[in-house]
Amino acid sequence: MSRTPWLAALLGAGFVALTACGAAPNSIDVSGYPPDMQARYDLFERRCTRCHELERPLNARVGEGGWGKYVQRMARHPAAGISAQEQREIAIFLEYHAERRRAQAEAPASAGGAP
Ligand code: HEC
Repeated sequence: MSRTPWLAALLGAGFVALTACGAAPNSIDVSGYPPDMQARYDLFERRCTRCHELERPLNARVGEGGWGKYVQRMARHPAAGISAQEQREIAIFLEYHAERRRAQAEAPASAGGAP
């Protein structure tokens, strides 16, 4: 089992990080979102990265309307430090984001949803 040196180096170094990035987005582009949703994204990013990467919630499969409960569950972790108001804001963002993703998946040609 001998590999070429360049391959070994590639596997050992940045390659792992690269594939991890490609497979699981750790941030999203919200530049097309309304300003209030961008503000909520900031809050989400700050509050939900204390214990794990943002990639966890971004790639979780949570059903429609399920984020409120999920965020509450996370906020119950000891030392989560997410206020009730913040939980609401974060859940609103995650529902909005999920909805946009659903709309895009269903109708790629007319992305953007209702006028
Ligand atoms: C205090 C620590 C902490 C904070 C803050 C936190 N989480 Fe978590 N999260 C965890 C732990 C621990 C797990 C793994 C065990 C579990 O599922 O409860 C987890 C797992 C998850 C998962 C993965 C579930 C799965 O099935 O893979 C999601 C989604 C998630 N968190 C979302 C969030 C969101 C959204 C926020 C912000 C509102 C948040 N988390 C904030 C501790 C935290």
